[in-house]
Formats: sequence, structure tokens, C-alpha cells
Amino acid sequence: MKEDLDYIYEFVNEKIKIERREKDYNIFKAENDVFDRKTMLALYDLLSHEYFDIIEFPIKIGKEANIFRAKKGRRFLAVKIYRTSTRDFNSIIKYIEGDYRFEHFKRSTLGIVYLWAQKEFRNLSDCYQAGVLVPKPVVFRNNIVVMEYLGTSKYPAPLLKDYPVQEKFYELILNNMLRMVNEAGLVHGDLSEYNIVVHKEKPYIIDVSQAMPVKHPNARSLLERDVKNIVRFFKKKGIDADENDFYDKINWGVFV
Ligand SMILES: Nc1ncnc2c1ncn2[C@@H]1O[C@H](COP(=O)(O)OP(=O)(O)OP(=O)(O)O)[C@@H](O)[C@H]1O
Ligand SMILES: [Mg+2]
Repeated sequence: MKEDLDYIYEFVNEKIKIERREKDYNIFKAENDVFDRKTMLALYDLLSHEYFDIIEFPIKIGKEANIFRAKKGRRFLAVKIYRTSTRDFNSIIKYIEGDYRFEHFKRSTLGIVYLWAQKEFRNLSDCYQAGVLVPKPVVFRNNIVVMEYLGTSKYPAPLLKDYPVQEKFYELILNNMLRMVNEAGLVHGDLSEYNIVVHKEKPYIIDVSQAMPVKHPNARSLLERDVKNIVRFFKKKGIDADENDFYDKINWGVFV
């Protein structure tokens, strides 16, 4: 078994060698904890199934997850790896309890992290199928979610907050939020200019792990917060945004 594990480590390490060659070795070293044993096993599984060939470099080192760019042939993918340690579970458990899609879950640390990744994948799939602009989901394993990479070969897509605002973005985001609620039956719950990226001149909604079904008792207030954030952002940029642009078109009948 130990030999198997040595083999797996060696195999996976080979595939993240570009990152190790990076000048910014310290980033990798400091955040090395994301590559724990179980994560290595999950990566091994994904690599063996040829979902991607190599992990290139971190796009973003976050508190809860690290996002890496991976490569499959000539295509890029985004690989989000949730940390299995040092996270505040109380802040996420409220987004799991009461979600009828995940009634039975293990209350262990790992069980919650795995469910969180699964939930992000499920939310991405539901949004994608409803035609919401989100990264196309590819697969999930344990604490890892693989999705479409948004950006160019040089740079990941910039956040909305860092991009010159266009009036059409407001309408596109409005339509995507309405689609998310009316068609996918979900509210994002953490929507702002920090969780929208601009890819090919269109705003894409990301980071959907905490999104909740509209049937959840908190859904209405989560939606109101999202709407406030978006309207505030566009108003600040001089665009004629109004909360009623949303509220007039929301199918309130689906909420409890
Ligand atoms: N599919 C993607 N393609 C390219 N870049 C991405 C993709 N998904 C996420 N990113 C980048 O990684 C960052 C973090 O992703 P995300 O918001 O999903 O994770 P997070 O855990 O919420 O991190 P944070 O706490 O920084 O918001 C994003 O701000 C974005 O810059
Ligand atoms: Mg985020």
C-alpha cells in the first residue's frame, strides 16, 4: 500500500511540475497544504481518467479554495480545490442545511467539504442547463471541481470590478440572474462584482457553491442582497440601475 501511495505521489507530482518550476515557488510552498493525501488521490483519479494532462499554475490562492489552470491537449480547464483543513464550517453549514437536494450528509469535516464541492458542481450544472452564463462544469471528485476555464491563454478572465463597465453588462447580468431564479430555481447568495468575471466581453457568474434553491426560507433575503449589490455597483458606475428592474420580472410564486 505504501508503495502504491509513493507511486501515486510521484505520478501526480510529475503532472504539477510546471508549477514547481515557477519562479514563484513560495506561493506553492506556502499553500502546499492543499495537496494533502486525499487530494493527491483524487487528482490521481482525475489524471488517470484523462480529464486533464497537467496542472499548470495557481490562478488564485484563496482562503477556502485554490484555483489552478490545467491543460488537456491544447484546451485549458479550471480546477478548484477546496481546502480540507482550517476552514470555518459554521459559515457554510447554513448553506447546506435546509437545501432539500442534500438532506443526508456526513457531519464530519471531510464530509462537509466534499458536499460543498458536490454542491458547487450541481449548482453549476443546473445554471448551465438553464442557459445562465457560468463556466461549463466538467466533473467533481471529493474536494475538487473541474470546470471550463474562462480567460485567454495569457490571463484568466478579469473580475467585473476590474473591468471597464459597459451598459450591456447590466442587462446581461439582469437576464442571467432572472434565468438563474426563474429557470434554474436558484439564488446565488454571494453575488457582486467580485464573483462575476468578464470573458469574451460577457459577464460570467462564478463561485456558486453557496447558491440555494428558491424554496429555501432564506432564498428571498439572499436574492434581495444580490440584487442590492448589483444595483449598487452599476449605479456607482453611472448606469441607470434599479432594484425594480429585477423585482418586476421575478417569478415570486416559486418562493416560499
Ligand atoms: N472558471 C474559471 N476560469 C478562470 N478563472 C476562474 C474560474 N473560476 C474562478 N476563477 C478565478 O479564481 C478566483 C476565485 O474563484 P472563486 O470565487 O470561485 O473562489 P473563492 O473560494 O470564492 O475565492 P474567493 O474567496 O477569492 O472569492 C476568481 O475570483 C477568479 O478570478
Ligand atoms: Mg469568490
